[in-house]
Amino acid sequence: MEEEIHQLNKAETSFRTIIEPFKIKSVEPIRMTTREKRKKILRDAHYNVFLIKARDVMIDLLTDSGTSAMSSDQWSGIMRGDEAYAGSESYERFEKTVKEIFGFKHVIPTHQGRAAERILFSTVCKKGDVVPNNSHFDTTRANVEYQGAIAQDILIEEGLDPESPYPFKGNIDLEKLKALIHRVGKARIPLCMITITNNSGGGQPVSMANIRAVKGLLSKHDIPLYFDACRFAENAYFIKLREEGYKNTPIQEIVQEMMGYADGCTMSAKKDGLANMGGFLCTNDDFLAKRERELLILTEGFTTYGGMAGRDLEAIAIGLREILKEDYLIYRIAETEYLGRNMEEAGLPIVQPPGGHAIYIDAKAALAHIPPSEYPGQALVAAFYLAGGIRAVEIGSVMFGKVDAKTKKEIPASMELVRLAIPRRVYTQSHIDYVIEVAKRVWKSREALRGFKIVEQAKVLRHFTAKFEPL
Ligand code: F0G
Repeated sequence: MEEEIHQLNKAETSFRTIIEPFKIKSVEPIRMTTREKRKKILRDAHYNVFLIKARDVMIDLLTDSGTSAMSSDQWSGIMRGDEAYAGSESYERFEKTVKEIFGFKHVIPTHQGRAAERILFSTVCKKGDVVPNNSHFDTTRANVEYQGAIAQDILIEEGLDPESPYPFKGNIDLEKLKALIHRVGKARIPLCMITITNNSGGGQPVSMANIRAVKGLLSKHDIPLYFDACRFAENAYFIKLREEGYKNTPIQEIVQEMMGYADGCTMSAKKDGLANMGGFLCTNDDFLAKRERELLILTEGFTTYGGMAGRDLEAIAIGLREILKEDYLIYRIAETEYLGRNMEEAGLPIVQPPGGHAIYIDAKAALAHIPPSEYPGQALVAAFYLAGGIRAVEIGSVMFGKVDAKTKKEIPASMELVRLAIPRRVYTQSHIDYVIEVAKRVWKSREALRGFKIVEQAKVLRHFTAKFEPL
């Protein structure tokens, strides 16, 4: 069957138009707003789009997490959800699916990705340990650091250069990993993580060759390898597209090979689980699994639901199969690429090449007249909202700027990016065309854009609640 679909896809891609591989059964209205109205909304929200009500957003590209549209099969599954406290049938279906796709021995259900991270790191990490990762996502970093351990990013140099077209910019730098193991010793490295795809670095994939090489190196030192698997299917599809030897390999087999190199994974089902909530932790280690399940019961729930309703387990079990369908992945990556290429053609500097789940605009390059201390990313985010009711997110000095303890001056982030994340199966090509049109309008008016100052902020994670004033 999979082979048949694969052949079909090969034939269908000879058409120029890649259609959405679904039709719409249920719709959610978009509330239209005028520029005048948005001006007031933005002002009332103190120029922070996190403080804008979702109903006042026309195209919401804040995140691809938990925002997917579910299929009719998933909605049917929801009605079948077995809500038994212990031993629910929905859990059986969930566990069977995760085991079949990911291949790990133990599956521990959690309410979302960060809960899996917390359980994993509080089980394996101690003070002074070091956890390498291509790039830690912010909750992953926070959960490592919460244990008193160090979260060390060891991404290849190409991954730090927005303009580099390298096909696997999420790869781990093997030399940096080697040097790290040599410097701190294997006893202080409880595990190494690979984030697929690399969200913090532009949604860029990791190659099979890199995964294999990392595993080879870690095996010599008995260090386990874990995936942060949020966007595992998108990563697998990039391997199929870009890596030699995988052109004819079914996605499921690519996933199995990837996972086969690892000892476990954390997963947020809110991304490539096509669900609105949920996650899990996997491991092959019996001893660890026992300790993790004890913690699970303490804070998440019993081992056969772990923070989710039976209906969530059903939605994920079905979503994980749907995400592996090649017609879906062809459409998914084409949609992101279409947005990226059109913005690039219009002149906007984007992180190259377009990622899996999002397009990242290099705000530092786009608004060279606004210094990082005046938040060029924030200026762009505000401009997208004002021009077209589009909500994007700043990933720059607002999110990652740090105040120097001595000088009290702010140290800017290394990059000033704006992420336009695409929810799965939610927007059609005309929505994306509209985003492109708005981007062009913003680009045209870029010289008139002004920076911002922060007038109120929280001590941690300030981007969620900070209040701004235009300069
Ligand atoms: N790891 C990665 C790579 C992520 O992108 C996220 C979430 C998590 C872990 C945590 O998962 O939200 O289920 O607890 N990323 C979202 C985003 C929030 O917008 O990129 P979670």
